[in-house]
Amino acid sequence: MGTKSLCLLLASVLVAYYVYTPIPENIEERWKLMLINAGFRTVAHVAEFAEWLGLMHYMEVLMMITSIEYTAPISDENVTVTDTKFNNVPARLYIPRKQSSGLKRAVIYIHGGGWCVGGSAMEPYDLLSRWTANKLNAVVISVEYRLAPTYHFPVQFEDVYTVVKFFLQNSVLAQYGVDPNRICISGDSAGGNLAAAVAQQLLDDLEVKVKLKIQALLYPALQTLDLDLPSYKDNENKPILPKSLMVRFWSEYFTTDVSLQEAMASNSHVPAESSHLFRLVNWSNLLPEKFKKDHVYASPIYGSSRLGKKYPGFLDPRAAPLLVDDTKLLGLPVTYVLTCQHDVLRDDGIMYVSRLREVGIEVIHDHIEDAIHGALMFITSPTDLALGHRAANKYIEWLNINL
Ligand SMILES: *[C@@H]1O[C@H](CO)[C@@H](O)[C@H](O)[C@H]1NC(C)=O
Ligand SMILES: *[C@@H]1O[C@H](CO)[C@@H](O)[C@H](O)[C@H]1NC(C)=O
Repeated sequence: MGTKSLCLLLASVLVAYYVYTPIPENIEERWKLMLINAGFRTVAHVAEFAEWLGLMHYMEVLMMITSIEYTAPISDENVTVTDTKFNNVPARLYIPRKQSSGLKRAVIYIHGGGWCVGGSAMEPYDLLSRWTANKLNAVVISVEYRLAPTYHFPVQFEDVYTVVKFFLQNSVLAQYGVDPNRICISGDSAGGNLAAAVAQQLLDDLEVKVKLKIQALLYPALQTLDLDLPSYKDNENKPILPKSLMVRFWSEYFTTDVSLQEAMASNSHVPAESSHLFRLVNWSNLLPEKFKKDHVYASPIYGSSRLGKKYPGFLDPRAAPLLVDDTKLLGLPVTYVLTCQHDVLRDDGIMYVSRLREVGIEVIHDHIEDAIHGALMFITSPTDLALGHRAANKYIEWLNINL
């Protein structure tokens, strides 16, 4: 064998080794997912390297790469798309073209990306909003909130809240021909976090008279207290969202100070003064047996009160909607929760389902056994997966029937 073919063979073996990731048994299109995941891992390595060299913040590299997927607001035969502002916060607006006599439904959509990356203009989000607008003949508002590390909590929350509050005014709804009784807030991942937090905070806002009809939370992040839930342990290195990245997203939402990230990575960031909050995320009580498997509930490890005082955000229900008392859950709208089996955030969603049901809120829980985090992102070529289309259809179907 010539040196050239030997090098080629060696290179192929190395590439195959790099691309290979153990993929759970029940997942389809395994090689495609492995390739996609290799792409994600490569981006993460580039970001780590650039940060190590001191060239760029980790999230800036991720942001730069995701921005390749940004699309212009282009209208099509079914939907008029424009970039606009609601009370000075940017949003992408989708208005169906179909002539209809009555009032329309509306969906306020909050994109994911760990409060650090992503945007309503990203191709999969843009497409999801178009599909929603077209299928439901609904007005869709996709909020362009500001991101970390430039802006930390509560800026993301406040941007979304500002848009929602502005839109829920009767005069604004009338302007868009929207039925005040048929409005939904939706979001995925960090967007599901923001949607859940906004839905809760609206309940106390006496200035807002219009009520949301439903909230749809797609694999949402809902708590920072316990980052060692069974789902974090079982899915620590599953495709797309490894635990290390989720910890980084969480800590970055509050600060770029690495001491919070380090404390979160060892799940010892919560000060003893906040020990009373743990009952609100006690997976031992809140998870059905099938998700507990053989995990054993361990008492929390407490961290320094300095972190809690310096970054109170991670104990704030506006960042961690599971941290409200039961009484604050009363009055929430009908809730749709989609969770994925192979996802570190799985148990956040499931615990919220349990808590909401315990106080009598109507919850529809779709748990997808063969899904990874971010399933709905995989709907655009060349990174589309049958799973992405299936999950997106499930969600839009549900909206269409219930909104
Ligand atoms: C417009 O809507 C029709 C019917 O839902 C659909 O078949 C078509 O693909 C849509 N066009 C675009 C550009 O999405
Ligand atoms: C969590 O639940 C378990 C089982 O019910 C209980 O033994 C434990 O004390 C609880 N821990 C907290 C912090 O609520």
